Amino acid sequence: MEKDETVILAGATGYLGDYIAQELYQRSIQTIILARNTKKAAHLANSHTKIIKSEVTDSKTLHGYFEGVTTVISTVGITRQKDGLTYMDVDYQANKNLLQEAKKAGVKKFVYVSVLNGKQHRNLKIIEAKELFVDELIASGLNYTIIRPNGFFSDMKDFLNMAKKGKVYLFGSGEKKINPIHGKDLAIACVDSIRVSNEEINIGGPDILTQNEIAELALLASGKPINIIHIPHWIRKSILKLVRTFTSSKTYGPIEFFLTLMAEDAIAPRYGSNRLVTFFHDEMDVLKP
Ligand SMILES: NC(=O)c1ccc[n+]([C@@H]2O[C@H](COP(=O)([O-])OP(=O)(O)OC[C@H]3O[C@@H](n4cnc5c(N)ncnc54)[C@H](OP(=O)(O)O)[C@@H]3O)[C@@H](O)[C@H]2O)c1
Repeated sequence: MEKDETVILAGATGYLGDYIAQELYQRSIQTIILARNTKKAAHLANSHTKIIKSEVTDSKTLHGYFEGVTTVISTVGITRQKDGLTYMDVDYQANKNLLQEAKKAGVKKFVYVSVLNGKQHRNLKIIEAKELFVDELIASGLNYTIIRPNGFFSDMKDFLNMAKKGKVYLFGSGEKKINPIHGKDLAIACVDSIRVSNEEINIGGPDILTQNEIAELALLASGKPINIIHIPHWIRKSILKLVRTFTSSKTYGPIEFFLTLMAEDAIAPRYGSNRLVTFFHDEMDVLKP
């Protein structure tokens, strides 16, 4: 079946999208990567993979590439980009542009990566736009998969960055739990999901860890003594209020997301084999002279 697939992948220049491109190549699936910066995707070009320059936020640049495509996979979203665009411009509208082109060309399947517990957190700026797109995708009539992952290992680097300086700061007791997932494991699930019909898949990594445990792993990998500072929740709530009142959604979006999710458990069905402890040690090895 995979031999007959042609996939358009949007987001391949990002953390997860890069692993998805590699997974599609492993399975010999014909792939068209849409990227605004083709140099950033150049290492992914191969006998099965073409790189096309297009701006997903500008629907005119998408015409003509979707004929004969069977599946669109999108990991497009603002995480740390500072382009002056809003979540509605990118997470919602750019994905809607992809969906509209897919519909016009008769593409059968659309795989979209949102976030774990997105439905419960529609009030957060960063999630509102994603979930609005999820609504459109479900109503579109296309066969869909909504992937709802827990935090990525790439985001756990924030713990490592604090650990390298000798102290990890956490809000509250640090006993809230999470099972973050490696992009490589998640990419396998994303490509497998081409074969499932109209599903939402909650997914996390193999280890369910408290924030204190993640902080300890990061400090140990950095060769630093255990030094975790617990900041009371009233400070977290005050920061939330301040950033919501005095900054624009572009600034407060990621802060609001982080400060809200730090205060709750985030546990998804466990998947994959890559362990956070190995990831932290690998990251530290890369930094060694
Ligand atoms: N990080 C997490 O812990 C986590 C957890 C759950 C879900 N998610 C969601 O999963 C998705 C993928 O995450 P990721 O960590 O792989 O993100 P990432 O590394 O930031 O990659 C995002 C992709 O979206 C593209 N993009 C962003 N703004 C764009 C714009 N204005 N025009 C065109 N392309 C644009 C980026 O292109 P450029 O390279 O050109 O910027 C990149 O290819 C995101 O929607 C994220 O919110 C993330």
